[in-house]
Amino acid sequence: MTALPLSTARILLIIGGGVSAYKSLELIRRLRERGASVRVVMTAAAKQFVSPLSAAALSGAPVRDDLFSLVDEAEMGHIELSRAADLIVVAPATADLLARMAHGLANDLASTTLLATDKRVLVAAAMNVRMWLHPATQRNVATLAADGVAFVGPDEGEMACGEFGPGRMAEPLAIVEAVEHALARPTLIPLPAAAASKGPLAGRHVVLTAGPTFEPIDPVRFIGNRSSGLQGFAIAQAAVDAGARVTLIRGPVSLPDPKGAEVVRVQTALQMLEAARAALPADVFVAAAAVADWRVEKARDQKLKKGPQGAPTLSLVENPDILAEIAKPGTARPAFVIGFAAETENVLENARGKLTRKGCDIIVANCVAEGTGVFGGADNEVQIVSPSGTEAWRRMTKAEIAKKLIGLIALRFGVRT
Ligand code: CTP
Repeated sequence: MTALPLSTARILLIIGGGVSAYKSLELIRRLRERGASVRVVMTAAAKQFVSPLSAAALSGAPVRDDLFSLVDEAEMGHIELSRAADLIVVAPATADLLARMAHGLANDLASTTLLATDKRVLVAAAMNVRMWLHPATQRNVATLAADGVAFVGPDEGEMACGEFGPGRMAEPLAIVEAVEHALARPTLIPLPAAAASKGPLAGRHVVLTAGPTFEPIDPVRFIGNRSSGLQGFAIAQAAVDAGARVTLIRGPVSLPDPKGAEVVRVQTALQMLEAARAALPADVFVAAAAVADWRVEKARDQKLKKGPQGAPTLSLVENPDILAEIAKPGTARPAFVIGFAAETENVLENARGKLTRKGCDIIVANCVAEGTGVFGGADNEVQIVSPSGTEAWRRMTKAEIAKKLIGLIALRFGVRT
């Protein structure tokens, strides 16, 4: 599937009622700057926060807000409105709107449009931290994610209500980036080719992360690592060959894309996590990436210069654990989650620790100590660590390991290869 460029995309933006609705006006500008056309639907609550006139002026098209407007419906019916877009973006999505979406309610123009659409939906949620963390909202998010709805944010930080935590709407530029990712992914309607594919993983969706992440220090420097991405790319190719729909989230490496995989390119751990979440639902998640453990708290906008002030001090913050996040129990959790453990010592002990700590189903453990030639090399020697025990595989090529791993995955779904 080829990505639809943002420059020709038609976006339907649904603005919900939240303080962050003002950021959606900037989102309209950013999308239009990049060539996208934007139509806006506002909920009744949204109109309490921003004026439809501003949204109309910025989008260059009339704003729709009334399901029962004879004039609007005569111009373009609400079904047509939802179908004439390439992507629907809901920003901000309030707790109420998420609940209505998750339960398939259609009691205003926004929710009716969302129910009638056959296009991908991207949600930028925004609400009070307690509301976001409430099990009811988390249940709704999991339901929507399982339905294929993509999410961007919410971000963590101080909120308009004075509390602190996750709940702030993602920044407009982060939403634009998520829009680009969403446009690169297929519609929710299964493609006939995918449905007809053959092989032990036919009909399964496999999501993988591979390669390193680069965490910026300033516009020219970054924190990275030596991961070549070879093993992850080999698994992605083997999964495609086994008939799966494959989404490969690739960090910055120079390898060619595996043939037949949907590819999402990222640089940082935060982007990788976002892309992994957006790729769900999936049957299998393979975390083969060597994610940087830390990022620079505040990457500089300008290149750091030498000077009499001496060497700069970098303040680091820990990156989220993508594998642990995706493996968290819930309806959005893929049925089979595979992690890697690249160790230089106490391989098995460390791998067992990661298996429990990260909540995955198996860990592929390998020794990357100097002299093994694993980093960047063609071969690998791994041990498969699961709650029921450990299996050591002989040294073989990364492609052979990938094939054997696919056999293990297929077996998990009851197919012997
Ligand atoms: N991983 C992840 N996100 C992170 C760190 C690691 O998804 N922020 C995943 C890797 O893709 C791999 C597994 O977790 O599947 C183990 O990665 P590894 O680098 O071996 O372990 P860490 O958790 O980083 O622990 P440490 O560096 O202390 O060994």
